[in-house]
Amino acid sequence: MTTRITLRRPDDWHLHLRDGAMLQTVLSYSAAQFGRAIVMPNLKTPVTTTALARAYRERIVAALPPGADFVPLMTVYLCDGTSADDLCRGFEDGVLTAAKLYPAGATTHSEHGVTSIAKVAPVLETMQAIGMPLLLHGESTDPAVDVFDREAVFIESTLRPLLRDFPALKVVLEHITTEEAADFVRADASGRLAATITPQHLMFNRNAIFTGGIRPHLYCLPVLKRERHRLALRRVATSGDARFFLGTDSAPHLRTLKETGCGCAGIFNAPVALQSYCTAFEEEGALDKLEAFASLNGPRFYGLAPNEASVTLERSSWEVPQDVELAAGGALHPFLGGSRLPWALRDAPVPEPVAA
Ligand code: NCD
Ligand code: ZN
Repeated sequence: MTTRITLRRPDDWHLHLRDGAMLQTVLSYSAAQFGRAIVMPNLKTPVTTTALARAYRERIVAALPPGADFVPLMTVYLCDGTSADDLCRGFEDGVLTAAKLYPAGATTHSEHGVTSIAKVAPVLETMQAIGMPLLLHGESTDPAVDVFDREAVFIESTLRPLLRDFPALKVVLEHITTEEAADFVRADASGRLAATITPQHLMFNRNAIFTGGIRPHLYCLPVLKRERHRLALRRVATSGDARFFLGTDSAPHLRTLKETGCGCAGIFNAPVALQSYCTAFEEEGALDKLEAFASLNGPRFYGLAPNEASVTLERSSWEVPQDVELAAGGALHPFLGGSRLPWALRDAPVPEPVAA
């Protein structure tokens, strides 16, 4: 039985770090696990320009624990009025790594998102020309579409035509949740389409949201799906296929804002991300494929070198804490809080929150 596994230091290709006191608390957890992360731009005031992304990057770097080996890769939030020139300069100056498209209304802080692809066509033309990846929240926002069908409908209504109209645009379909998405990405032969997968979508199906009562801490968007979808995600994640890679979608919300009459979508999995992925890969008998998924496929898609450093996971049962206190008050309930995981990260104890 494998008792220890060493990987090149992984990266997180989809992460919400928030800002202010929340950033101060959650950042150390991601920095303990990952060398780099694609940082989502959906702050309360979204990161819509290169100048805002540069300032946000400075706040993140200033909040890093001393000695941390972590590089934030910034994204810009596309809106109907995004300037192609600003995006192009930001990408060429190395401030921006990618641009994020939220269909308006699809998820947390997406109300400033794009109302139709036609509105951002000139921006997408520019991105295609300069090789800047487009990151997609792939869900239909048509209120008539069932919440469990939104990803599959988005693929046919928006993604397929988008790939046809922008034949060289690099696209990441983020946090995929369905067999349809896995099959769609696998069927693409162009090499410019990839997908990220979260730990929660590998570990749970939608029953988990309703087991013994409603479980707000398992509510995220896109929402967990049926078992057949979870199994399809496990197959592609553990297949070694370079088009699938790690993206936690760790999305912290205060416990009080999740345990309420209208709870926020988002799961805070940063403290347990690698340990959860490792558990899922072991269950599939695919520990030998974990490094490709976590540490190699993402950099390859983004045209970056893999990290030089390494991390070691050890077989050691540990109980995930129920709460992470924020220095500024309030608490976060981490993914799997209160349950046990069979894998622990060596030399990266779950860090204490840093004082703001
Ligand atoms: C994210 C958030 O809270 O910012 N929530 C989520 O459920 N994943 C937004 C997102 O990625 O959709
Ligand atoms: Zn997200």
